[in-house]
Amino acid sequence: MPEVVLTSETDWTGWRTATRSLVLAGVEPAAVVWTVGGSPSGFPRSSGSFAVSRSLVTLAEQAIQAREPERFGVLYSLVWRAHAGEPVLDHPDDPDMRLARRLALAVRADAHRMRTHLRFLPMGDRLLGWYAPTHYVLEANAQCIARRFPAEPFSVITPDASAHWDGSTLRFGAGLARAVDDDTLRAWWEAHEAAILADSRAGTSVPEAEVLDEAPRPLDEPAIDPVVFPIAVAPALTAARREAERCERCSLCGPATQTVFGEGPANAAILFVGEQPGDQEDIIGRPFVGPAGQLLDQALEAAGIDRRGIYITNAVKHFKYEPRGKRRIHVSPSPEEIAACGVWLDAERACLRPKLLVLMGASAARAVLGRPVAVMRERGQAMRLGDGQMAFVTVHPSYLLRVPDGEARERDYRAFVRDLSTARDLADRL
Ligand code: URA
Repeated sequence: MPEVVLTSETDWTGWRTATRSLVLAGVEPAAVVWTVGGSPSGFPRSSGSFAVSRSLVTLAEQAIQAREPERFGVLYSLVWRAHAGEPVLDHPDDPDMRLARRLALAVRADAHRMRTHLRFLPMGDRLLGWYAPTHYVLEANAQCIARRFPAEPFSVITPDASAHWDGSTLRFGAGLARAVDDDTLRAWWEAHEAAILADSRAGTSVPEAEVLDEAPRPLDEPAIDPVVFPIAVAPALTAARREAERCERCSLCGPATQTVFGEGPANAAILFVGEQPGDQEDIIGRPFVGPAGQLLDQALEAAGIDRRGIYITNAVKHFKYEPRGKRRIHVSPSPEEIAACGVWLDAERACLRPKLLVLMGASAARAVLGRPVAVMRERGQAMRLGDGQMAFVTVHPSYLLRVPDGEARERDYRAFVRDLSTARDLADRL
């Protein structure tokens, strides 16, 4: 009996090559044994090729990622029958076709769930995330994240395997079986890096690592510059962050990809507050990493403020948007949504006890001052809050991105930098 040994659960190339050979050699589906790993006992190899419909190939490509031992044989049987001229795709009630469609659907849903729930933790030079998908969707998802954010090194770890993107190469390695907290994840990463270093010193390669994709296809999306942040370590802050991940205090949690909590060192003297995560923050899971974040970085540097020393967060922790075609258009949060999210900002303030809060824009000012604020009138003044902390209002960097006239934008940018310098001096004196 011909036995096909695939190299991994997602060995699409191996399955496709074997399928082509076996169909051409006339091997009946019932005669083939499909296994993963181990030593091959061999199967008849035939050269040549044949075509089946693109829809059937797409269906097989998705269904093969399902955690279902029968899938290799079922998909082979569908291709075998299609090659024999049977219109298998037109038979929705056919048991093999029903199973393949069900598996492909489950894989697509699982891939979407993974992209939605995967939360990244800044760790050294990269973002680190752990997730337990139901199916074997790591590979396809990692390729998708790498294409979308080519400049952002990341590692995604699942119980089956891990994927590591360094900006040019996607490698796959061993997985981590249990659900983990941030500390375990960090320890695992340190051990993983130490093993790689030891291997490279010894001149050996990391055994399980496999180079999959040397040159990712560049997409239209702008690249995000990697920024290294110290991790907020206060345990109460970590607990608040975890709880906020499950927040359903308003309806924004539904359409948003994830909660975007603040980040920065637990001993930061200045807490910067924005409005809400934007499109890119929503996907990456970190505040101010998109265009407004890049402008903020530039202004902070011009004002002599090191981003690594401040804590940055938002009044609202979920992205509010309106879908328009393929784009997601920012919509300002309502006063009710700002109030509902206030518990998380309160938690951040209580844990960090910063000397100064820099409130960027009207939503941040309303969240902290509890009233509508005319930003242009109140900017640049220090205000004492009820708990003794000081607040300072300035414009939001997105406002500067919207100023249409180049000269006016330059003038407004300089005024923003001046505000930030004033805030820095104020915090130094407190
Ligand atoms: N605008 C914000 O207010 N916050 C972000 O994190 C990004 C854009």
